Amino acid sequence: TGHFTFDPGYGSTASTQSAITYIDGDKGVLLYRGYPIEQLAEQSSFLEVAYLLLHGELPNRDQLATFEDQITHHTMMRESQKDFFKGFHHDAHPMAMLAASMASLSAFYHDDLDVYNPEDRKLAAIRLIAKMPTIAAACYRYSIGWPFRYPRNNLEYVSRFLHMMFEVPSEPLELNPVVPKALDLLFILHADHEQNASTSTVRLVGSTGANPYACIAAGITALWGPAHGGANEAVLKMLEEIGTPDKVETAIRRAKDKNDHYRLMGFGHRVYKNFDPRAKIIREMAHKVLNELGVDDPLLDVAMKLEETALKDDYFVERKLYPNVDFYSGIIYKALGIPTEMFTVMFAIARTAGWIAHWIEQHETPGTRIGRPRQLYVGSTPRDYVPMTKR
Ligand code: CMC
Repeated sequence: TGHFTFDPGYGSTASTQSAITYIDGDKGVLLYRGYPIEQLAEQSSFLEVAYLLLHGELPNRDQLATFEDQITHHTMMRESQKDFFKGFHHDAHPMAMLAASMASLSAFYHDDLDVYNPEDRKLAAIRLIAKMPTIAAACYRYSIGWPFRYPRNNLEYVSRFLHMMFEVPSEPLELNPVVPKALDLLFILHADHEQNASTSTVRLVGSTGANPYACIAAGITALWGPAHGGANEAVLKMLEEIGTPDKVETAIRRAKDKNDHYRLMGFGHRVYKNFDPRAKIIREMAHKVLNELGVDDPLLDVAMKLEETALKDDYFVERKLYPNVDFYSGIIYKALGIPTEMFTVMFAIARTAGWIAHWIEQHETPGTRIGRPRQLYVGSTPRDYVPMTKR
């Protein structure tokens, strides 16, 4: 009983109004605050996009400089926060460490934080965007047993992160300029995607008035699943498992078999039924990055063969399954030297901008109510308790 609309997986329920991101799934359109993703990818930077998502307008030169300054000011982790890492086994997944570290931030920034105060919300957004790369790099360094590096605040956002990841003492890190450029582009493409599972999670937790760092920790855990952000790691593992283009047919056959749980990772999307505009940009980028770095990765051949074969196959055509944002991103991350287990962490760094923009929008919207879905009950009718001796 109950008089509710049944909409499993929220295929047709708008959970909120939002002015941040627009998607037209049939036409393959993605806009951040009205600006096409293609133009932002070509001309913008990740921090400029973060500002745009948060404030609704592109910054002028001074506004961007101030924003970058504020971010730079907050890049450090508290020393004592580092101790949390020591509790993890060395082979803990970086996403598990990231989620736990983020939740621990809610213990550092709590009592003096009023989620109903706009200034406090702004500061939380800046801290989050600033600290995320520092914590993410710490997760990686811990997993390989290396000491953490402090953020170098004379560097730009993406280069600073790459230094925290890869720098070793007294050896300058030589970065091919294509590396920070490609990473910045990937961050732009992943920065927001309206009410996806992780953003909806952040909003649902946010609707209870919870601490923003706790909300983002919830978003990170939602992102981790292979149907969502975990797909980029899963794609690379799948491509490695397939190994060579001649094995692609077998993978496609398995993906079509309904008795097999196997899916083509990086394929399909709830909203995009024509193409994923981010995948188009990333596909081009993958070729460019590999070329410029002089990397010859056989997995790119496997990916291209997989794409070509699937796009000609009735099963995928009928279901409108196309490569999504995660299909080619792993190949780029790999070429940039990012280890596979860190792929979803990279996604989380970028999506933090979107998550916190949604959290702020939610708190700025008058009349926002707690998120409280209903259910269709399918359990037992009332019955009497049976004493243990009679069971
Ligand atoms: N391989 C094989 N079959 C698929 C796939 C796939 N990757 N994706 C969907 N299908 C089939 C599915 O079995 C179903 O077939 P049928 O109608 O015969 O039962 C049909 O296509 C519709 O699929 P669905 O699961 O109802 O679609 P959904 O909108 O609920 O799920 C999805 C969308 C992205 C979770 C799903 O396509 C998927 O699991 N893809 C692989 C994982 C992936 O790449 N995820 C990243 C998404 S983009 C980035 C992000 O969100 O973080």
